[in-house]
Amino acid sequence: INLVFIDASGQRREISSQEGRSLMEAATLSGVPGIDADCGGACACATCQVYVDPDWLSRLPAMSDGEANMLGFAANRQENSRLACQIRLAPELDGLTVTTPEFQF
Ligand code: FES
Repeated sequence: INLVFIDASGQRREISSQEGRSLMEAATLSGVPGIDADCGGACACATCQVYVDPDWLSRLPAMSDGEANMLGFAANRQENSRLACQIRLAPELDGLTVTTPEFQF
């Protein structure tokens, strides 16, 4: 699954990762900066926030209540915010593009 991460300064990084991983795991395993993931993917920290490219937003699976609640704690939350640990990579997400926030907390 190919993924594109754009950081707060506009630098673009393209990585590819295995299906079944979370977007957060894919980023951290590939050394993409800007995702802290303090809780290790348990939907309990909100430091894996990403801003999803508008073209992709509606193509992602809906948020769980847990994700929606936790996003309430995220710094600089935006309309297109999601928690990267809650997005499971699947073939239909090939090319997914997200921006990482300038800081997570
Ligand atoms: Fe903690 Fe995603 S890694 S909420």
